[in-house]
Parts: sequence; C-alpha cells; structure tokens
Amino acid sequence: MNYAEITGWGKYVPKLLMTNDDMAKIIDTSDEWIFSRSGIRQRHYSHVSTGEMGWLAAERALAAAGVDASDIDLVVLGSTTPEEICPNTASFIKNKLGATKAAAFDLNSACTSWLYGMNVATDMIKAGSIKKALVIGSERISLAMDWSKRESCFLFGDGAGAVVIEATKEKLGLLSAHMSCVPDSRECLHLPSWGMSPSHLTGDIHVSLNFEGQEIFKSAVKGMADSIANVLEREGLTAEDIDLFVPHQANVRIIQTLAKRLNFPIEKVMVCIDEYANTSAAAIPLALCDALTDKRVKPGMTILTASFGAGLTCGAGVIRWSDRVEPLQTSDADIVPYDGTVFDLMEDSFTYYGVDAQHLLTK
Ligand SMILES: CC(C)(COP(=O)(O)OP(=O)(O)OC[C@H]1O[C@@H](n2cnc3c(N)ncnc32)[C@H](O)[C@@H]1OP(=O)(O)O)[C@@H](O)C(=O)NCCC(=O)NCCS
Repeated sequence: MNYAEITGWGKYVPKLLMTNDDMAKIIDTSDEWIFSRSGIRQRHYSHVSTGEMGWLAAERALAAAGVDASDIDLVVLGSTTPEEICPNTASFIKNKLGATKAAAFDLNSACTSWLYGMNVATDMIKAGSIKKALVIGSERISLAMDWSKRESCFLFGDGAGAVVIEATKEKLGLLSAHMSCVPDSRECLHLPSWGMSPSHLTGDIHVSLNFEGQEIFKSAVKGMADSIANVLEREGLTAEDIDLFVPHQANVRIIQTLAKRLNFPIEKVMVCIDEYANTSAAAIPLALCDALTDKRVKPGMTILTASFGAGLTCGAGVIRWSDRVEPLQTSDADIVPYDGTVFDLMEDSFTYYGVDAQHLLTK
C-alpha cells in the first residue's frame, strides 16, 4: 500500500500589518469588539499576487523537503483569489519554481481548498499515478474586503502555506480524509461577480462579500464535527488518540465550540488566528508551519485537521507525522519589499468601497 508522507513545509506571510486599532481608523469598530468576537488581533496584507505568495511558500517547502522542483509531478494550488482564472495560477507557480515535468491545477473550494487539494493529491500518490506533489494554499483576500461592511471586513488576511508530499510504503501522511458540501447553504457566504458573468460585458460589476456570520458559525461547527466523526471512525480513533488538532482559523469561538463538542482539550489545539485572521485556503498550512516552528509537532504524532468555507464546503483529515520535524534546508528566496504603509497599499480598495482614507496616506 502507498502512502503520501509530508516531507516539507513552508509559508509566506506578508510584512504589512493591519491591526485592529488600524481598522478602527477606517470603520466603526474597536480592538476590544473584534478580539472578543473573533480572537483576531491583526492581519497581514500583501502587495504581491496570490501566485507570488504561493511560489515563495512552495520554494520554502521544497527546501524543507530537500526536493528539487524538477522532481515534482504535480502542483495543486488551493485558492479563491487567483489573480487570473485563465491560465491557472498553479502553472505560474510551477514555471517560477522550475517544476518542469509537473502537472498544475487550481482548486477552489474556498477555505477548504488546501484540505481538498491534500486529499486529491494524496489519493493520486496512493493510486500510484504520481510520486511527489506540492499542495499550496494561497490567498490575497484583502482585495475583496468591503469596507462598508464592518461585520465582515475585519475577518480576513493574506498569506500562503505549502507542503511537499512524497510516496512512501510507511503509514504516514494524510491517512483518511472526508470532504462534504452542506446542502442549500451557498448564499450565506458569497462573493457575487467574482468570476465570469454577463455583468462583465456591461461593466456593471461590484464585488462585495455577502455574509451571514451566525448561519456560517452553526453550519461550520456541525459540518466539521460530522467530517471529524467520519475520519476518526475510519481510522478507529477517538479524540483521546489525537495529539494535536490543527483546525481552520476563522473564529476562535468556532474553534472553542468545536473542541468542546469533541471533548478535546484546548491545550492540544493550534490557534494562530490572533496573528493572521482568516487566511482562507492558507490557514491550515500556515498553522501547521507554525506548529512545527513552535515545536508542537513531535515525531510520530497523530494530527487532526478540519476546515469549512464558502459552499459551504467542509472537511477533516487524520495525518500521521513522520520522525522528522526539522526542515532539511532553508531557502533564501524572497519577495521584493513594498516601501509604503498598509494604508498606502489599500488606497485603491478604500476608493472602490467608498471609504475616505486620504488623511491616512503617506504617499
Ligand atoms: C462575524 C462574527 C464574528 C460576528 O459575531 P456575532 O457574535 O455573530 O456578532 P453579530 O453579527 O451578532 O453582531 C453583534 C453586534 O455587533 C455589531 N457589529 C458587527 N460588526 C461589528 C464591528 N466590526 N465592530 C463593532 N460592532 C460590530 C452588529 O452591528 C451587532 O450590533 P447590534 O447587536 O446592535 O445589532 C461571527 O458571526 C463569525 O465569526 N461568523 C463566522 C465567520 C466565518 O465563518 N468566516 C469565514 C468563513 S470561512
């Protein structure tokens, strides 16, 4: 039997920060309200595209695995925010990496995209059709924040995370995964006009996130709990067998509610939403990278992961970690810096969504 061991991991987090206090300069809110309702303190905003961020995370993952890009068979990019839809962004990343022989595709199931991608790539390795894959989650979601909607614009941040998975005969990597999509719940999290529609021909386009926070909250907890029950049963495990839980980072209260429902001690849960907010498809690989850096991942650990996103898509997976928790090498690749402030970066977005932020600009 083939398995797909995780041998490399890498992330890219943009340097520019938008703190809750910064946010309170643009919308009617406060650090106290945002932190108590969501667990978020700040988010990072990117001056480069989803593809550039995903490329750097992938470079770092390849270095950690000690794998040459030319040996990769498949590049999967999980993302809701590709700069272009045709051609796909995975092909941009593949070319920039020099992954000459790799196939490349984008996968969009919103925040669950990385987990869906892991499941697909792992199954391809298990089936024997490929041997090495890069699975990336990257999002530049800051560009879709509608500053006239204070109930949602504070929730998201940009970033990228990636893993290298490789064929092995040892029982390692993503052992079981469950993917689902909750019926009749497409409208509660929706970015109308983000794609090709007749309104493009008339120029009548306004991209704005529609959001029903409490509806999503309830569906997310139930959907993830159902997927977790499914994967635990398939692996013959209970919550007590799990060493670390790395969930999607959308709201700390969702994570706490889920942990309580599963009787899972919060000390075993990876939480980094305070630092990054919700980075959508990047959230789980970013959290996994931080868990490794913080030495919370130990050799041989059994790790549970779960996610949900627009659709409402849901999923969970059980990962068995190998003996190695240190990167083999590091990469010195980087992204050209931006020399303005976060407000300068967002100037066009403020204008698009009708927010007067002229007094905050330095350029
Ligand atoms: C968005 C979310 C944090 C809101 O928390 P909540 O407890 O449901 O808060 P509510 O929407 O009920 O709003 C409560 C009050 O705060 C106000 N409020 C909303 N946004 C605010 C803000 N940024 N600052 C201050 N007050 C705000 C509301 O107007 C409302 O006021 P009212 O009681 O006077 O009407 C929460 O519902 C959530 O995280 N949902 C899921 C998020 C998610 O799934 N995201 C992405 C999916 S991958």
